[in-house]
Amino acid sequence: MQLDDLYRRVIMDHYKNPRNRGHFEDNGVTIDLHNPTCGDRISLQLKVEDGIVKESRFSGEGCSISMSSASMMTEAVKGKTLEEAQAMAEQFSCLMKGEPVEFEYEDLEALSGVNKFPARIKCATLAWNALRKGVEQSR
Ligand code: FES
Ligand code: FES
Repeated sequence: MQLDDLYRRVIMDHYKNPRNRGHFEDNGVTIDLHNPTCGDRISLQLKVEDGIVKESRFSGEGCSISMSSASMMTEAVKGKTLEEAQAMAEQFSCLMKGEPVEFEYEDLEALSGVNKFPARIKCATLAWNALRKGVEQSR
């Protein structure tokens, strides 16, 4: 697939140097999801205190799009309220529909080109579906 060079570099950077990969031992919610089309999976952990995402970690296996999206998402939600995290998931859906969206965490915009590749939208969205569930379970 063809993505703008700069975007591709940002995606590969997150894929090769994932942020927040791993897991923490203390309390938190864990969401396990898989992408039914390919079987790739993600496990997302969120630690929420006083309605604020204090920590988020992920593990799993998947393509560069799914893993980089997870890396970016876990970075973007840190320090956000549950409402802000949910709003960000909505924004991400808009991005996947091809709408122009500006994110405070700008790396996310590197995934904008993915909307042209329907199979890849599922890859990019996996982590965000996990986030939605994690937010619900942390309320
Ligand atoms: Fe585009 Fe493989 S990353 S089809
Ligand atoms: Fe499996 Fe992208 S090909 S998540």
